[in-house]
Amino acid sequence: MAQRTFSIIKPDAVRKGYTAAILAEIEKASFRIVSIKKQSISRPQAEGFYAVHKERPFFPGLCDFMSSGPIVLMVLEKEDAIADLRKLMGATNPANAEEGTIRKKFAASISENAIHGSDAEDTAAFEIGYWFAGYELV
Ligand code: CMP
Repeated sequence: MAQRTFSIIKPDAVRKGYTAAILAEIEKASFRIVSIKKQSISRPQAEGFYAVHKERPFFPGLCDFMSSGPIVLMVLEKEDAIADLRKLMGATNPANAEEGTIRKKFAASISENAIHGSDAEDTAAFEIGYWFAGYELV
C-alpha cells in the first residue's frame, strides 16, 4: 500500500541551485509528489519542527541553518516511501553516504546535508501535519 513521507530540500542545496536536480532524483525513484512548496521558515518554526532534538548540542546551529534561507517542503508517496527515501538520501553524514545517493552527490557536511526525510511512520505523520494542511495534500 502506498505510504507517505515528508521531505525538505535544505537551504544549502537550494542556495547552490540543486533543487531541480534533487527533484529529478526523487521522481526518477518513482515517488509521487503529493504536495510541494518553497518558503523561508522562522527560527521558532525550525525549533518546533526539530523539538525532538532540543537537548542535542547541534540543535541551535541546526535551527539557525534551517531558517537561513528558502527551503522546499514536500509530501512524497510510494510503497515503502519512508525507507526508500532514506535509502535514496544516503547517510546523514555525506562522508558515509553511498555512491549515487542524494547526499553523496549534493551534500557538503553532516550539518549542511541537502535533504531531510522522515525516519518513521509517527514522525512522518507529525512532520506532514506540522507543515501541510489537509487541503494541500492532493
Ligand atoms: P535531519 O534528517 O534533518 O534531522 C536532524 C538533523 O540534525 C540532521 O538531518 C543533520 O543535518 C543534523 N545533525 C545530526 N547530527 C548532527 C551532528 N552531529 N552535528 C550537526 N548536525 C547534525
